[in-house]
Amino acid sequence: MNQDKYTEETILWLKRHSAKHLTFAVSRPESYRFSAGQFSRLGFRDGNGFIWRAYSVISAEYADTLEYFVILIDDGDMSARLANMKAGDTILLDKTAQGFFLPERFPDGNDLIMLSTGSGIAPFLSILQQPEIWQRFEHLALAHSVSYRSDLIFNDYIAALSEHPLVGGDYGKLRFVPVTTRENDADTLHFRLPESLENGSLRCAFGLDFTAERSRFMICGNPQMVQDTFQALLHQGFSMHRNRIPGHIMMENGF
Ligand SMILES: Cc1cc2nc3c(=O)[nH]c(=O)nc-3n(C[C@H](O)[C@H](O)[C@H](O)COP(=O)(O)OP(=O)(O)OC[C@H]3O[C@@H](n4cnc5c(N)ncnc54)[C@H](O)[C@@H]3O)c2cc1C
Ligand SMILES: NC(=O)c1ccc[n+]([C@@H]2O[C@H](COP(=O)([O-])OP(=O)(O)OC[C@H]3O[C@@H](n4cnc5c(N)ncnc54)[C@H](OP(=O)(O)O)[C@@H]3O)[C@@H](O)[C@H]2O)c1
Repeated sequence: MNQDKYTEETILWLKRHSAKHLTFAVSRPESYRFSAGQFSRLGFRDGNGFIWRAYSVISAEYADTLEYFVILIDDGDMSARLANMKAGDTILLDKTAQGFFLPERFPDGNDLIMLSTGSGIAPFLSILQQPEIWQRFEHLALAHSVSYRSDLIFNDYIAALSEHPLVGGDYGKLRFVPVTTRENDADTLHFRLPESLENGSLRCAFGLDFTAERSRFMICGNPQMVQDTFQALLHQGFSMHRNRIPGHIMMENGF
């Protein structure tokens, strides 16, 4: 990759939540612009070449640093590099943030329904820190599906939004539903997301009606989940959102 296309940044801190869950912050060049919902391309030098992968930014558009949440994959090339990373190391940052997974692309609707699995929660963590999102929608509903309860590492972070100076009194608009698909807990839902749409349990857990007039869906995570959830919503009469043909559903494959 041409050297004028990326910058060399520093790992400022790094937190290992488990053997496979990692959050870290990277220094942010003053010129780096992104919109909540977009992803960065992060990389390392690799022999004579490079290794690059996409990671959604979890920090706010106005933050001084760029934060990311990574799920390490067994035998993954980038995962092996990230697993050994420590504060003070250098990482490469493509100068251009990418992606069209942006809630402001919905011209209308009252309720923003955010459906995620695994690392697919990442773009929503950034979106939820944008004050205009809290003003624009009547309800913000987030579901995070993971296999085991110990994979739910953002519950406290989401609860802490109630103290966020730019969210404040609007926190009551948020409905957060954690989903554990391989563990049965009293305070989580247990169905995979497409099934929970089909059997009505997600509506019930959010306490919201899903209607074409009110609901706008954003789906991010496991590509098969994205596809199956999209199909479930199509069957319920919702349609894909396109800039020229406004609809109800936006999606992003998380890998
Ligand atoms: C738009 C976009 C945004 C992304 N944002 C994030 C993010 O915020 N956090 C993050 O951890 N990853 C994210 N990814 C995935 C990331 O780019 C890498 O693919 C991932 O870190 C694995 O890279 P690897 O080289 O270790 O493994 P690879 O050898 O590239 O992947 C091995 C296999 O692991 C599976 N896999 C890849 N990523 C994941 C994942 N996150 N969860 C479960 N299984 C996965 C896939 O089946 C893949 O074929 C994103 C991908 C895309 C396309
Ligand atoms: N989770 C672990 O403890 C674990 C352990 C070792 C290795 N890994 C590997 O680590 C990587 C990341 O694992 P992960 O568990 O974070 O991600 P994941 O496998 O994508 O699972 C995250 C969530 O997505 C759900 N899901 C998966 N496919 C779906 C589909 N087609 N439709 C609807 N929901 C779907 C899972 O449900 P289900 O639970 O029903 O699949 C789970 O709730 C994967 O490569 C995985 O194989 C994971």
